[in-house]
Amino acid sequence: MPKFPAYRPRRLRRTEPIRSLVRETVVHPSDLVLPLFVVEGTGVRRAIGSMPGVEQTSEDELLRDAEEAARLGIGGVLLFGIPAHKDEQGSGGYDENGVVQRAVRRLKTELPGLVVITDVCLCEYTSHGHCGLIHRGDVDNDSTVELLARMAVTHAAAGADVVAPSDMMDGRVGAIRAALDGAGFAQTAILSYAVKYASAFYGPFRDAAGSAPEFGDRRTAQMDPANVREALREARLDVEEGADMVMVKPALAYLDVIRAVRDACDVPVAAYNVSGEYAMVKAAAQRGWIDEERIVKETLTSIARAGADIILTYHAKDFVRWSK
Ligand code: PBG
Repeated sequence: MPKFPAYRPRRLRRTEPIRSLVRETVVHPSDLVLPLFVVEGTGVRRAIGSMPGVEQTSEDELLRDAEEAARLGIGGVLLFGIPAHKDEQGSGGYDENGVVQRAVRRLKTELPGLVVITDVCLCEYTSHGHCGLIHRGDVDNDSTVELLARMAVTHAAAGADVVAPSDMMDGRVGAIRAALDGAGFAQTAILSYAVKYASAFYGPFRDAAGSAPEFGDRRTAQMDPANVREALREARLDVEEGADMVMVKPALAYLDVIRAVRDACDVPVAAYNVSGEYAMVKAAAQRGWIDEERIVKETLTSIARAGADIILTYHAKDFVRWSK
């Protein structure tokens, strides 16, 4: 390799067309997934205080947001349901006429080409805010897995292209795969939240979904932020159980984990740029402390550079508009 002055790396940084020619990582709109929150009713659009620009919407308004996402070429939407009534068993989650199931049916009828992914977890549906059935002060694994499998089948029956279990119960991917196949939904894919850390970065989401646990936390199910070998074990296990894609979540404090999972698995890897990551950018931008557009572009590019094929992000629409 010739040394300075023969070699001058700045030659390839001289103009934007040259930089563009040699750019190693480019995030395409079709790599992005936009999370959406659906509530009961019609004409509802409710701002989420800690996530400026994100709203809870009723099914009719959700359809408009999804149409816009489709028009922008965004790869898909991820639906979260907030039911009018919650109970100890989270029964709204596996009701075939529940808030998400109805929204999926509507989306797949009106926008059949848009990829619809559903979050499979009970925390938005339980009165105590935990991800499953409580037994002796903790979430009971095996009885919860049964309900998650039921929930996934109702999502598939409504037309979801992909179901995304986010609960972190052991064995749920295998149980969901078996339930889907048994019910005639062999073509419904599973995007597993395989590597989900017990993170403070989910704070604003729990406002959005009204799913903050009433007691305790999620550390008996979600992973310890200190662990990366365990992440690989979780990802491999989920692939063996039938996950078509695996996710790492959150994204920014875990770029090394995204890279490690990318290198260890050959299925598509998704990364979730979560609510707290979004809220911090919005808060600083509102104060004029950072340049939001540049921060978002840099952030999403870094997640892709770390190895994510798919990025779930609340910035999706802005990112695509800014990239035009
Ligand atoms: C659970 C779920 C959570 C998120 C996605 N799915 C919350 C949690 O585990 O506490 C967080 C998403 C975000 O913070 O943007 N259903």
